[in-house]
Amino acid sequence: MSQQVLITGISSGIGAALARTCLERGDQVYGLSRRRPAWEPPSNRSDALHFVQQDIADLQTLPQALSNLTAGIDQFDLAILNAGVLGEIRDLGDTSLDEIQRVMTLNTWSNKILLDSLFAQGIGITQVIGMSSGAAISGSRGWGAYALSKASLKMLLQLYAAERPQTHFCSLAPGLVDTAMQDYLCDLPASSSQTYPSLGRIQAARGTDAMPTPDELAPHLLQCFENLRSEPSGCFIDIRNLPN
Ligand SMILES: NC(=O)c1ccc[n+]([C@@H]2O[C@H](COP(=O)([O-])OP(=O)(O)OC[C@H]3O[C@@H](n4cnc5c(N)ncnc54)[C@H](OP(=O)(O)O)[C@@H]3O)[C@@H](O)[C@H]2O)c1
Repeated sequence: MSQQVLITGISSGIGAALARTCLERGDQVYGLSRRRPAWEPPSNRSDALHFVQQDIADLQTLPQALSNLTAGIDQFDLAILNAGVLGEIRDLGDTSLDEIQRVMTLNTWSNKILLDSLFAQGIGITQVIGMSSGAAISGSRGWGAYALSKASLKMLLQLYAAERPQTHFCSLAPGLVDTAMQDYLCDLPASSSQTYPSLGRIQAARGTDAMPTPDELAPHLLQCFENLRSEPSGCFIDIRNLPN
């Protein structure tokens, strides 16, 4: 059955692939990002893609942009909180509060504003997926601002799960995916892995089955989202720990 799906960050990467896959299966997709999607919806589905150009980290204008995008909607089947930024790989002690705040604003606080705005508009959401990361729980050296933001997002969704029993919330770590985010990590000198050991594993994974493209992963992700509905609301799941 056709679903109403909200996805943040649909211009590239995982969000773009999820949007395309949802359109292919017949859904109505509501997306936001700073850039317009450069990709075309599948044939005859262009009227099923609803888009508003918005910097989601601009928390002042986000509620109005959302209300423009969602006019006439009273229920989303799925909201995928996907837009995210990596920030720099460096020691936390060398990371400024401004940089931490920049990453937190997009990866964490924008999602609070987004959820609060939708609920304030009286829009119900059946399922919320927060696009998380192993960094939310690993505490690996170098992942500073990003790790803090994803750990906070995980707790944010847990807290909403306790407040909103009608909505199922889950933080899902998608594993390594070959997107622009990986360009930065894989372009760091191989010697960086001496200081930041997790980089070695990531750089070795590129071009292998351990790092699928977003289009390869998207159908599997959508199936996972459905399966996750049987887990407790507020859960954190790493896709790499699920049975195939
Ligand atoms: N790739 C991985 O291996 C991996 C692993 C674990 C978790 N994740 C998570 O998966 C999610 C998607 O990552 P990705 O790899 O697909 O990254 P990506 O290719 O860099 O795409 C990020 C998307 O977020 C949007 N975005 C970024 N800043 C934005 C802003 N200020 N306002 C609105 N939209 C913004 C971008 O659109 P615009 O630039 O047009 O705004 C783009 O569509 C992120 O939350 C990331 O943390 C990725």
